[in-house]
Amino acid sequence: MTTKMAINAKDIFRNQHRLIRFIEQSIRLCSNQSLKAAQKQQQQQKSNADFEITTSINTQYTNAPEPIKHDKDLGDLFKASQLQVRLASPQQLQPKPDNDEELGFGKLFTDHMLKIYYHKSLGGWQKPEITPLENLVMHPAAKVLHYAVELFEGMKAYRGVDGKIRIFRPDMNMSRMNLAAQRSGLPTFEGKEFIKCLSRLLTIDSEWVPHTDTASLYIRPTLIGIDPTLGVASSDSALLYSILSPVGSYFKTGSNGAVSLLADPSYVRAWPGGVGNRKMGSNYAPTINVQKEAAAKGLQQVLWLYGEDHQLTEVGTMNIFMFYVNDQGEQELITPPLNGLILPGITRDSILAMSRQWGKFKVREDLITMPMVCDLLNQGRLLELFGAGTACVVSPINRINYLGQDLYIPTMEQEKPVHELIRETLTDIQYGKVDHPWGVVID
Ligand SMILES: Cc1ncc(COP(=O)(O)O)c(C=O)c1O
Repeated sequence: MTTKMAINAKDIFRNQHRLIRFIEQSIRLCSNQSLKAAQKQQQQQKSNADFEITTSINTQYTNAPEPIKHDKDLGDLFKASQLQVRLASPQQLQPKPDNDEELGFGKLFTDHMLKIYYHKSLGGWQKPEITPLENLVMHPAAKVLHYAVELFEGMKAYRGVDGKIRIFRPDMNMSRMNLAAQRSGLPTFEGKEFIKCLSRLLTIDSEWVPHTDTASLYIRPTLIGIDPTLGVASSDSALLYSILSPVGSYFKTGSNGAVSLLADPSYVRAWPGGVGNRKMGSNYAPTINVQKEAAAKGLQQVLWLYGEDHQLTEVGTMNIFMFYVNDQGEQELITPPLNGLILPGITRDSILAMSRQWGKFKVREDLITMPMVCDLLNQGRLLELFGAGTACVVSPINRINYLGQDLYIPTMEQEKPVHELIRETLTDIQYGKVDHPWGVVID
């Protein structure tokens, strides 16, 4: 601050976040050092790796999200330039966690949130606003409370080794969110404008982005129908909001970092013509009791099967991948196709694009069935099985309990596991260890 600047209470209040950030950054320099050491170690390991990170994206291998087509009677769209900010007072600011390793998942929230209301009767989307984190007030008839008119996204902000904060392929999340909005009778919006508002929220709460490469700030954009009427109909009033939560690792794993799964064909997560391919809250509540059943059997996740042939669809809240030796004797990475039963995961899409670009092994989107898994295991051709998603990047699988039998998967026994290479490549992009168009810097 220059001496010319008149310092009054208003200036101090307006700049409190910068001051706090400055003080905390000085205090946290120690943990930054450990990040730099990790970066150095990573670079040394990289020189031994078979796979190079390609910093360009070959568009032949990526699915750019399609622009959303809004309903004719949607009304006004919101713009980030209309964003209004009401900062929390110093007394409202919460202490930030000291130990990033003990964060767990989604238990703590930052000081602010983003809110954008939609009211058809007022012309459409209203002005976006950032406010202190606060409870929502709604009518007890609000559609979200009765018909689960709700959808959400899961994204993360990562503090890079260069100190910059990045989010990963946010255009993909926005596209997925709008597709779910269309299916739920909720208003659509311009994803780019939402990301600009979100970037401002992240800048305000930036000190909550953990200073390590083992934790991150989870971003939970949510869209709910809030009309105070009981008809099962499109929402004429809605709330699009986002909260932020510093997170460590999502899943409980076994001692070697791998997960064990319950595969019970009597439970189904999604079905043809349903909404298994959309991130709607209504898909998740019915999985909770099955997850409890898995836990009671000492298993960490549920492997969701579908159909007479027991197709593998998803694992917990992740897409599933298998690395194996195919009938032609070639190494191949396979994942189920986007046939409506599967969430079009952004991690899934990135893994497919990356490994196709590497060209080191075959890559295929095709059905995987349990009989196929059993046969490949018996023949020693199944090399790795892993889940993939934003929460954990990749999660290796070492055991499946299927029809009362334990199948042991040798994922953790491979000398140079493919899932590790994938994890390293993706986290290097997320934490800015390599410059890549998928890692979008917040400024
Ligand atoms: C059911 C389900 N499958 C897969 C995923 C992985 O998707 P993404 O890679 O976009 O996080 C998620 C998490 O969002 C999920 O909830």
